[in-house]
Amino acid sequence: SFNVGIVGATGAVGKEIVGVLEKRSFPVGNLRIFGSERSAGRVVDTKFGKVTVELFSESSARECDVVFLAVDGDFSLKHAEAICDGADGAVVIDNSSAFRYKEGIPLVVPEINSDTTKGKKLIANPNCTTAIGLMAIWPLHKLFGLKKMVMSTYQAASGAGQPGMDELMEGTRSVLSGEREVAENKIFAHPLPFNVIPHIDKFQENGYTKEEMKVTWETRKICGLPDDFPVSCTAVRIPTSRAHSESIVAIFDKPVDVALARKALEESPGVKLVDDVSNLKYPMPLTATGQYDVEVGRLRKNIAFDNALEFFVVGDQLLRGAALNAVVVAEKMVE
Ligand code: HSE
Repeated sequence: SFNVGIVGATGAVGKEIVGVLEKRSFPVGNLRIFGSERSAGRVVDTKFGKVTVELFSESSARECDVVFLAVDGDFSLKHAEAICDGADGAVVIDNSSAFRYKEGIPLVVPEINSDTTKGKKLIANPNCTTAIGLMAIWPLHKLFGLKKMVMSTYQAASGAGQPGMDELMEGTRSVLSGEREVAENKIFAHPLPFNVIPHIDKFQENGYTKEEMKVTWETRKICGLPDDFPVSCTAVRIPTSRAHSESIVAIFDKPVDVALARKALEESPGVKLVDDVSNLKYPMPLTATGQYDVEVGRLRKNIAFDNALEFFVVGDQLLRGAALNAVVVAEKMVE
């Protein structure tokens, strides 16, 4: 069994990592939780016993075999390499974007490219939106050969962590109760209740946001596609609390066949085909929340482009898009 450390275990993703470790079979011998001075000393009740949060230090994190970092990119940049350095360093699975685009650092969706972790001690966990979409794209890419992709996303407030959820809930309550002082928006650029905001993360020079460009950069790296492979995304924040939704148009090299595509998706681990429109069955955040599998549905031949499929994907971004992905990376590394 392994000594497992988590940094950021009280945040939105960190909590889910503890929950996934409790439910799955990764052999946790001893669980250690590291935090800031503010959280050190708190006790977290887990299946592995009561764990007292320890003040983070690189040397104590190095005592673990595997360390999950569920913290911001600046923290990861500062500490990740020191935690995994040398033969006695820990394997680090980092949920931030700090190392995702660095050459030589594997960026991993385990169902796609877990082979890239061999001999590596620092592994980058992907952006949640990208990880969810690729669960559906990958089996179709293997069948028909992806040529181009356009994605439009509908992302839940919890993508911005607990403060994002709180802002949505408080704002919604204050609108519904007709309060004159409507709760201020600090996390999102505009009030999110009863609104959609086509803006997630910072705008880049090319007019895309960083969240949108992450889908482009990470799809290329994870799927082993060329550096100029055409992937375009519009990422939109919507007032749901959890699970990100994505409408995807995928254009392929080969002629597409919907029946073959359905079969490949049905057989693909981590995917649940929810696609029976005659019974009003399609993917939705309400049904995908709390699930490990990504729901895929509304699968059809796109009528605007040749060799193209269009479909709708919903996945719990905190689980499949983050915590579960990280834990399955660890599971595959010890297999
Ligand atoms: N960047 C994502 C978002 C976070 O803001 O929705 C992952 O959930």
